[in-house]
Amino acid sequence: MLRDWLVTTSQPEETQRLGACLGNFLQAGDVVLLYGPLGAGKTHFAQGVARGLRVESPVTSPTFTLVAEYEGRVPLIHMDLYRLYDDAEASEPILTPESLVQIGFDDYLDGDGVVLIEWGRGVEADLDNYLSVSIDYAKFDEPSDDGVTTRQIAVEAIGEMAQRRLWEWVVAWA
Ligand SMILES: Nc1ncnc2c1ncn2[C@@H]1O[C@H](COP(=O)(O)OP(=O)(O)OP(=O)(O)O)[C@@H](O)[C@H]1O
Ligand SMILES: [Mg+2]
Repeated sequence: MLRDWLVTTSQPEETQRLGACLGNFLQAGDVVLLYGPLGAGKTHFAQGVARGLRVESPVTSPTFTLVAEYEGRVPLIHMDLYRLYDDAEASEPILTPESLVQIGFDDYLDGDGVVLIEWGRGVEADLDNYLSVSIDYAKFDEPSDDGVTTRQIAVEAIGEMAQRRLWEWVVAWA
């Protein structure tokens, strides 16, 4: 089974296509965690996933609402946990159980949707099946103009179902 994948995109549209490629076959119960610094492309990726799930309404990051729900081939639950941490950028950021109860986290996980979580580091320990997608600016040895729109995307699959999805995704992207 495939656990890791490194892929590069060179344009915002390509990051959306990569997300759509995954969204095409995500199923209810699948969880995707999305990481990356400000402006890396998390929202572009999420918009692609939504497209692959046949979501028609526009998708933005639910920074203030924490959770947004969209209708699609299966429902898409899009969470942004950033505001629930004292320090979201810490290496092991801590979420209080109360804050998760407050947003109804467990109900969403047991529900009938695909759950896409931005800044999900603090819930990883509670999950046994998920894809984590980390988007970052490409680091080049030599500064080059090409670097401006290149993104390195590191995917990790935890659990058997996630590894199956990763395999399907890699094959479909090839
Ligand atoms: N290969 C690429 N993939 C995605 N976005 C890219 C790429 N190259 C350039 N960009 C640009 O980077 C920005 C990514 O914005 P986006 O809102 O998706 O990032 P984000 O990670 O959600 O940021 P934030 O943390 O502020 O929510 C956009 O301006 C986009 O045009
Ligand atoms: Mg965003």
